[in-house]
Amino acid sequence: MQVKKIALLVSGRGSNLQMIIDNIEKRKINGRIDIVISSKKDAYALERAKKYNIDGIYIGKKNFPDINERNDKIIEILSEKQIDLIVLAGYMSILSEKIVQLYRNRIINIHPSLIPSFCGRGYYGEKVHKAVLDYGVNLTGAPVHFVDEGTDTGPIIIPKPVEVDFNDTIETLAKKVLEVEHQLLPLAVQLFCEDKLKVEGRKVRILGTV
Ligand code: GAR
Repeated sequence: MQVKKIALLVSGRGSNLQMIIDNIEKRKINGRIDIVISSKKDAYALERAKKYNIDGIYIGKKNFPDINERNDKIIEILSEKQIDLIVLAGYMSILSEKIVQLYRNRIINIHPSLIPSFCGRGYYGEKVHKAVLDYGVNLTGAPVHFVDEGTDTGPIIIPKPVEVDFNDTIETLAKKVLEVEHQLLPLAVQLFCEDKLKVEGRKVRILGTV
């Protein structure tokens, strides 16, 4: 099986990027990160990429103010590098429909709440955990899903609930959810790279054993 070429899209500290790098190094993932694209110029994720000699580039509102030009630049890089899989690992921008259509069922996102609750536009990072705590639900999660034209609406690959305790704060909840993300995102990438994910309508069948 050919090694899959992966693009990681990030905006922040890149702890999920680190997990994918670690799992590639441990040979658990049959893939290679060919590019890290950041929507934030000073994202620590870009530093992490540099440390591992992975190409990193900033494509954001400052160097590409026009949204169409920004997305076209991303497409240009993805096609130049013949990317097989795009992973949104804490990417706080919305991809254009054109990218979604070109890479249908080949874009994976991780979201820090139990979809379809507390997701969609405006729900990202700590805002998600705040909304979960403000509502008072006792379950949240960290589902990995394929990306479609909506925001956080694509088929769910692996869900995993996380309990919210009475005394949880944004910080403690974010930490618990992140620990789960660090298991699920590399696992989903691993399965994709082994051709084990099959999208059937709104469901994702996992082929073989995990
Ligand atoms: C993660 O918690 C991820 O689920 C979230 O941003 C964080 C990035 O952490 N993503 C979203 O909120 C997207 N809607 P990281 O930079 O350390 O990987």
